[in-house]
Amino acid sequence: MIRIVNEDTPLFILDTEDTSYLFKVTATGHPEHLYYGAKITADSSDGLTECHEFAEGNTNAVDDEHKNFTLENMRLEISSYGKGDIREPMIELTNSDGSFTVDLRYDSYELSKGKKEPEDFPGSYGAEDEVDVLKIVMKDKENNLQLDMFYYVYPKCNVITRKCVLTNHGDGRVIIDRLMSMLMDFDNGSYTMHTFTGAWTREMHKSDIPVKAGKTVVSSYTGTSSSRANPLVMISEGIANEEYGKVYGFNLIYSGNHYECCEMSPYGKVRFVAGINPSGFRWTLEKEECFETPEEVMTFSREGFGKMSHNMHDFVNTHIVRGEWKERLRPILLNSWEASYFDINESKLVNLARIAKKIGIELFVMDDGWFGTRDDDTSSLGDWYANKKKLPGGLKGLCSKIKKLGLDFGIWVEPEMVNEKSELYRSHPDWVIAIPGKPHSKGRNQMILDLTRSGVQEYIIDTMTRILSSCDISYIKWDMNRTFTDIFSSALPADRQGEVIHRYYMGLYHVMNVITKKFPKVLFEGCAAGGNRFDLGILSYFPQIWASDDTDPVVRAEIQTSYSYGYPPSTISCHVSDSPNHQTLRRTHSTTRFNVAAFGVLGYESNLMDMRKEQLEGYKKQIECYKEWRQTMQYGRFYRIMSFADSLSDTHSVITPTTGKHLEWCVVSEDKKTALSMILQIMVIPNSQTAVIHPAGLDPDMRYSLNNRELSYSILDFGSLVNTAAPVHIRADGHNHHLLDKFIRMPGEKESHIMYGDAIMNAGVHLKSGFAAVGYDDQVRFYQDYSSRIYILRSEENDNGNDQQDHKDNG
Ligand code: GLA
Repeated sequence: MIRIVNEDTPLFILDTEDTSYLFKVTATGHPEHLYYGAKITADSSDGLTECHEFAEGNTNAVDDEHKNFTLENMRLEISSYGKGDIREPMIELTNSDGSFTVDLRYDSYELSKGKKEPEDFPGSYGAEDEVDVLKIVMKDKENNLQLDMFYYVYPKCNVITRKCVLTNHGDGRVIIDRLMSMLMDFDNGSYTMHTFTGAWTREMHKSDIPVKAGKTVVSSYTGTSSSRANPLVMISEGIANEEYGKVYGFNLIYSGNHYECCEMSPYGKVRFVAGINPSGFRWTLEKEECFETPEEVMTFSREGFGKMSHNMHDFVNTHIVRGEWKERLRPILLNSWEASYFDINESKLVNLARIAKKIGIELFVMDDGWFGTRDDDTSSLGDWYANKKKLPGGLKGLCSKIKKLGLDFGIWVEPEMVNEKSELYRSHPDWVIAIPGKPHSKGRNQMILDLTRSGVQEYIIDTMTRILSSCDISYIKWDMNRTFTDIFSSALPADRQGEVIHRYYMGLYHVMNVITKKFPKVLFEGCAAGGNRFDLGILSYFPQIWASDDTDPVVRAEIQTSYSYGYPPSTISCHVSDSPNHQTLRRTHSTTRFNVAAFGVLGYESNLMDMRKEQLEGYKKQIECYKEWRQTMQYGRFYRIMSFADSLSDTHSVITPTTGKHLEWCVVSEDKKTALSMILQIMVIPNSQTAVIHPAGLDPDMRYSLNNRELSYSILDFGSLVNTAAPVHIRADGHNHHLLDKFIRMPGEKESHIMYGDAIMNAGVHLKSGFAAVGYDDQVRFYQDYSSRIYILRSEENDNGNDQQDHKDNG
């Protein structure tokens, strides 16, 4: 809800269910930020406004009429350079006379309701009863500039989004060097900025950086939102954990270069700005032209990081993801990449799909290698025609064979790219981002198509239309495997080259919009060398994203934990792959690989044809389990109960920094009648039998049964310990050991408890004894390095005991 109190100048009160955001216009016409935080009752700005009776020493007054107003130490909603504020500006530009002072003052406001679904540029959307809109018009009369600042208030999700539009009403051209989506000043205090940085196969490493004097910046400069720094950032105030404390969450609805900065001024105030990275950005506005920024999402929670994430999850599921896949269950897929990389052909794929069907897979995805002469990554991107040697019946032939098996069919594409070794490059060498006449640096042997050009956009739309119309394709994995270098478009003049990256995304979003609208039933999955473009811009068109090329469950557990701060499980695509893992060579149990992947959109990426019967049987049971709880896994409330980083315990004799590190997640159905809890440890603590789990988010008054997914173990996992029970000597890993393994499984522990929700959450559930080298029977928890467990909690009121009743139509 938005309220306006007209004092001498207007006071704006933006309320969501649990938060309030207030600012007012000062006598000088500057929007002064008053408050953002837990909901408050206010009918005036009394007590909320800072007092500045005299301007601070050695500062500049805004104008002669207001000598006490110095912008340098005010809390503002917007600021620019040149009138006394020397902190991070929201706007930097060069006026037509060469000056770079901008002096925007309040002009008027407008209220409205509802926000349309995004078309050629991503953004949030909501019906009239879901979103209130405030537009503040600011004008720079000296330079004939107008800045419209938009606030979209989503009360139910406790989210407010901000963006702005700058229009040049002057006669001359204006060059924008920076136009951020938002700026906000916090009162003096103790703040921590939480960022997510990383690299390929190790995306989303969370850092907690105390905000001290000076600037803390996180940004991407790869031309993508990037695995190097996700646009999701959080700011906590004072002490905060998952359940308590003040936490602000921010995210940019954009896939290009972004910039987020916390600056503590010499007066101790903290300014936050976020938007397009000004580095590499320069935009020319001719007379009456305007530039619109992407939207920044903001939320606040007084109940720690947990509630902040829940606000973000609700917002993404309801106001970002759209189309037929909104709130719809996602299929379980098998992807061919790690099964055979480029070495694919029809019979291999059909055989793989046949086994996939048997174990319960619903969608078969052919990854890279199916087109042109693509036998490795040196050629053929751009030549989107099936390789007839590999697929004699083309896409159509393979598709009909897969469909006949009872599976849906999907394919991998990378339409934004081209190899020099391709027909496309030979016919259109000018279609790439490159500086004519100068050497070009490549990534993965490929070049980026110049999507600023409408001809290139049309080519991609036509190509995808042809492919998607050629047979019954249900799913597309849309990849983008390199970052930008040598940025230049031969379609743009020399003085507009600073516009290339942003124009590239305008072109890409147009393409994505057209294709997703033309093929609304197709499930699109974003991918960029794993998580190099995991952002709300992509999610505005594609409902899920491949989170990382790393499928090692231990690394993935940390990556998924980090994504969960801002992105709901329904958007995070996760696969069970082989052991040893292809990215880390780490050996892990298939149960652990499943347990981690199950807390997102589950898929498999493994050569099923090489698998033993028992392994396939294991996968089949996993898939059955996931199908049973899919609604909760994809759309339940997700809780981070313990992370590796927080879990180093000194109550045990900890001997290395990783020993004892463990992680605990829980996901709870909307009606709280079902919950699944997962634990995973990195390294065993010797001689430690006891362990307690603390599932969260339950109904305190409900009685729940808690059971583990029942497991049994190979006697090979016990090595020579087998001799402590065997009547005859068995050589560990020898012939007889393997022979016995075919007939004997070691029983796993059974957990079975009935407890009230409040007891489970507060006292915790004490688990069966962990293996401690003093005996083993079916009451002992077999818990090695990288072991994990899923516990299923069912309310006694749950009629049929599983999620099935919640399933939306999923074919
Ligand atoms: C990228 C993706 C992988 C796979 C390969 C194919 O690396 O992230 O999942 O699709 O491309 O070349």
